Amino acid sequence: MTAPLRIALAGLGTVGAGVIRLLEANGDLIAARAGRPIQVVAVCARDRGKDRGIDLAPYAWEDDMTALAARGDVDAVVELVGGSDGPALALARNALAGGKQFVTANKAMIAHHGMELATLAEEKGVALKYEAAVAGGIPVIKGLAEGAAANRIERVYGILNGTCNYILSQMESTGADFGDVLKDAQELGYAEADPTFDIEGVDAAHKLAILSAIAFGTAVDFAGVDTSGITRISAADIAQADALGHVIRLVGIADVQEEGGEPRLFQRVQPVLVDKEHPLAAVDGPTNAVVAEGNFVGRLLFEGAGAGDGPTASAVVADLVDIARGNVTPPFSLPVSALAATAPADPGQRVNRAYIRFSVADRPGVLAEITAAMRDAGVSIESIIQHGHPADNGDEPVLVVMVTHDGPESAIASALAMLEGSPALTEAPLVMRLIG
Ligand SMILES: NC(=O)c1ccc[n+]([C@@H]2O[C@H](COP(=O)([O-])OP(=O)(O)OC[C@H]3O[C@@H](n4cnc5c(N)ncnc54)[C@H](OP(=O)(O)O)[C@@H]3O)[C@@H](O)[C@H]2O)c1
Repeated sequence: MTAPLRIALAGLGTVGAGVIRLLEANGDLIAARAGRPIQVVAVCARDRGKDRGIDLAPYAWEDDMTALAARGDVDAVVELVGGSDGPALALARNALAGGKQFVTANKAMIAHHGMELATLAEEKGVALKYEAAVAGGIPVIKGLAEGAAANRIERVYGILNGTCNYILSQMESTGADFGDVLKDAQELGYAEADPTFDIEGVDAAHKLAILSAIAFGTAVDFAGVDTSGITRISAADIAQADALGHVIRLVGIADVQEEGGEPRLFQRVQPVLVDKEHPLAAVDGPTNAVVAEGNFVGRLLFEGAGAGDGPTASAVVADLVDIARGNVTPPFSLPVSALAATAPADPGQRVNRAYIRFSVADRPGVLAEITAAMRDAGVSIESIIQHGHPADNGDEPVLVVMVTHDGPESAIASALAMLEGSPALTEAPLVMRLIG
C-alpha cells in the first residue's frame, strides 16, 4: 500500500469529531478503497481541554488554525469550523496557496468565495472539495458533477435546509404555530440558538448558489438568489395548503432560461406549496432532497440526511477518499475560466400558479377591492376562500386565501402594488408558488 494521505483537521465540533470517529471506525475499509490510509496528523479547535468523546493524544495540536496550512507533514487540510470569512477563509487561502489539497463543509465560504478559492486551487493543481457543504451526507455534488456529467441539467431544486423542513413538518403534524415549533426545535437540537440563517433561507441560498454553478456551468452567484424564509408561515397557511392537497416546504429552485435571446440564471429560495403527489412532499423532518432534471437521464432525486455528525462526516471523508485516489477535478466541474457570468433572470416573467394569503379587516367591500386589483392587473383567480371568525371576535382580522391560475409573477406584483397602503389590509400579503 502506498504512503498515507496525511490530513490536518481544523474544527473538532459536530462534524470534526464525527470525521475522527468515522476514520477510526472505518479506517481499514477506507484504506482499502482509497488504496492508501487516511491519517490524521494534526488538529485544531478553540478549547484544547474540552471533552469531545474522542482521544486526541495521537494528533499534534495547533492553537492557531492557519498554522495547519504551514505544516510540512500535511497533504490535505480539512476545514470544519464555519463562517464565510475570518479564520476559515484565511485557512483556505493559506492551504491552497501553499499547494495543499483542501476539503471543507462550509457552504457560506464556498457561496461567497468559491470562485476565488477555485482559481487558487486550479493555479496550484490541487483539489478544492466541499461535498458536505450541500445537503450534508447526500452525494449530490458528485452526483451532478460526475454521475450526471453527460447531461444538460435543465433545472435543479430541492429541500436544502433540514431545520426549516423539520419546523414545517412539525407544524403540519401538530397544528402548532411557527414560534412554538421553533422553540421546541431549539430545545431538541434541530435548530441553532441563533436560527436566523436557517429560518430566513440564507443557508439554503448558500447551497442553491453552489448547486447552480455545478448544474449550469455558471459562476457562483449567491447575491443573485432571491431569498425568503419561513417566518411568516402560520398554522392557518399549513391548514389551508392541506385543504388544497399540498404541503408547505422551503424549496430552492434554479434554472437557466433565455430572456430576449440571452441566457438568464433564475435562483430562488422560498416557501412553496408542494402537491402531495410530488416526491418532495414526502420529504419530512430534517431530511434534505435535491431533484435534478437532465436532458437524457430525466428526473434524478437525491435524498438523505442533510446534517448531523455521521452523514456530514461521511461526505467529508468521501472527498478525502477522492483525493487519496488522485481524483482531482475542477471544483465547479468546469475550469473557472469556462464558468459563465450569467445575468440574473427577471422573476416577473416566471409563469406560476400562486397562493396569496391576505389578512384583512372584516368589513364590507374588502373582498371586492382585492378582486378588482387582481382583475385590473390581469391575474386570473382559480379559487378564493374567505375565513370568518367567531361572532364575539368581530374586530380581529380575517384571512382571505386565493389561488391563481398560471400567470406571470409581474401581474401579481402589480395587483399587490395597487393594494399597497390599503386600510383593508392588516399586514402585507404572503405569496407562495405552487409546484407539482
Ligand atoms: N453540523 C452539521 O450537521 C453540518 C452539516 C453540514 C455542514 N456543516 C458545516 O460544517 C462546519 C462545522 O460545523 P459544526 O456543526 O461541526 O460546527 P461546531 O460544532 O460549532 O464546531 C466548530 C468547531 O470549530 C472550532 N472553532 C471555532 N472557531 C475557531 C477558531 N477561531 N480557531 C480554531 N477552532 C475554532 C470549535 O472549537 P471548540 O470546539 O473548541 O469550540 C469547534 O470545534 C460549518 O461550516 C457548517 O456549516 C455542518
